[in-house]
Amino acid sequence: MKLLLKNDRIPNIRSFDVHRAHGGYAAVEKALKMTPDEIVEEVKKSGLRGRGGAGFPAGMKWSFLAKPEGVPRHLVCNADESEPGTFKDRYLMEHLPHTFIEGMIIASYALGSNASYIYIRGEYAWIPDILEAAIAEARAAGFLGKNILGTGFDCEIYVQRGAGAYICGEETALIESLEGKRGNPRIKPPFPAVQGLWMRPTVVNNVETIAAVGPIIEMGGDEYAKIGVGKSTGTKLISACGNINKPGVYEIDMTISVEEFIYSDDYCGGIPNGKRLKACIPGGSSVPIVPANLLLTTAKGEPRMMNYESLADGGFQTGTMMGSGGFIVLDEDQCVVRHTMTLARFYNHESCGQCSPCREGTGWMYKILKNIESGKGKMSDIDLLWDIQRRIEGNTICPLGDAAAWPVAAAIRHFRDEFEWHVTHPEEAQIRNFGLAHYADALEPVVA
Ligand SMILES: Cc1cc2nc3c(=O)[nH]c(=O)nc-3n(C[C@H](O)[C@H](O)[C@H](O)COP(=O)(O)O)c2cc1C
Ligand code: SF4
Repeated sequence: MKLLLKNDRIPNIRSFDVHRAHGGYAAVEKALKMTPDEIVEEVKKSGLRGRGGAGFPAGMKWSFLAKPEGVPRHLVCNADESEPGTFKDRYLMEHLPHTFIEGMIIASYALGSNASYIYIRGEYAWIPDILEAAIAEARAAGFLGKNILGTGFDCEIYVQRGAGAYICGEETALIESLEGKRGNPRIKPPFPAVQGLWMRPTVVNNVETIAAVGPIIEMGGDEYAKIGVGKSTGTKLISACGNINKPGVYEIDMTISVEEFIYSDDYCGGIPNGKRLKACIPGGSSVPIVPANLLLTTAKGEPRMMNYESLADGGFQTGTMMGSGGFIVLDEDQCVVRHTMTLARFYNHESCGQCSPCREGTGWMYKILKNIESGKGKMSDIDLLWDIQRRIEGNTICPLGDAAAWPVAAAIRHFRDEFEWHVTHPEEAQIRNFGLAHYADALEPVVA
């Protein structure tokens, strides 16, 4: 079922006129006849969960927004999308900018934000122009600016480019960056809903979350909630990549199985060259990797489904997370140790350095993994790695520490034999991975 991407193949759908001719901005017209509280109520009824990774209910987040009289409030859209394996927001913004801007206008009205912001990762260098063109068209048609559609509601949307830091996707680091400062996460509480941008009440939502608001208003929260299953309502965008025949962005209604998603021609189209499935990281690089046997079937022996509850079934012992929907497939030829090392390098590079467990621990994990991967590790290094990740998890200001720890923990939990093989077969490991270890050295000196 398609809600967000239903028009993505229509020629020139980026233009306001074509979008409007296909029903665009009807949801904004409808929303502006409702009260802000009624919109929040519809979003609550829809069961929409934040699509940025944590899956927090959007309507509930909106209702937490402090409402002090006379204090400006802000909607900030998180378009930083730097999680490895995740590229669904890019697709939405690039191909369907008006679907997104409609959501921004409705959410701004519901939250009472007269100045709303889109913080977009700097590497998406061409997309701000697309968004700014869409904003200008919407303003020219009376959907933005002063007294929108004669309702008395004023709203401007500003696009701010990031400078290429993954940490600026964390909502409080994003707010700091938007304020012109270094993107360091803040200690919470206070949460952004109370003190966010310029210490004003602020809601930060992901691009896909905001884009879903238009369809929710159009069809009503109750109807939206009928799509999907359990607390996984509506549709979800999945960006699929790795060893699959058809990488790309897919909109699913969260009732299909993981097996169908990987092997059906409607989605990933199976694994190239008849290779076997080895493992998958289904929700972006921060979520635990799961081996094929636990991926397709839960520990209870049921087919694992592409939704929040089923992917998490079994906790971190046998399950994983929906996360941001960045679905990375590994075939039988892939080396989990190498993958884990590459991710560790990434988190070490992206740590902002404020907390010792993350600043030091990510560097240690990368160093140890590099040794193991290149055949220079010891058996005790595997336990040392386990110990370090355990000491990082839950002991940091922001969840980047957890995001760095979980992939290491899951890789050791499920693929310990592969780590051991690297230790017991140093020569083979060195020959096989010679190029990569040197490549990693050349790229970045490890911190600490
Ligand atoms: C290190 C780190 C990076 C993050 N990157 C993103 C991101 O690129 N996009 C995003 O929407 N959320 C990201 N998040 C989650 C945000 O902090 C926040 O929870 C999210 O934007 C809220 O939107 P949602 O409720 O609509 O999901 C990141 C979190 C962390 C800890
Ligand atoms: S966990 Fe890491 S990225 Fe987050 S605040 Fe601490 S040092 Fe910075």
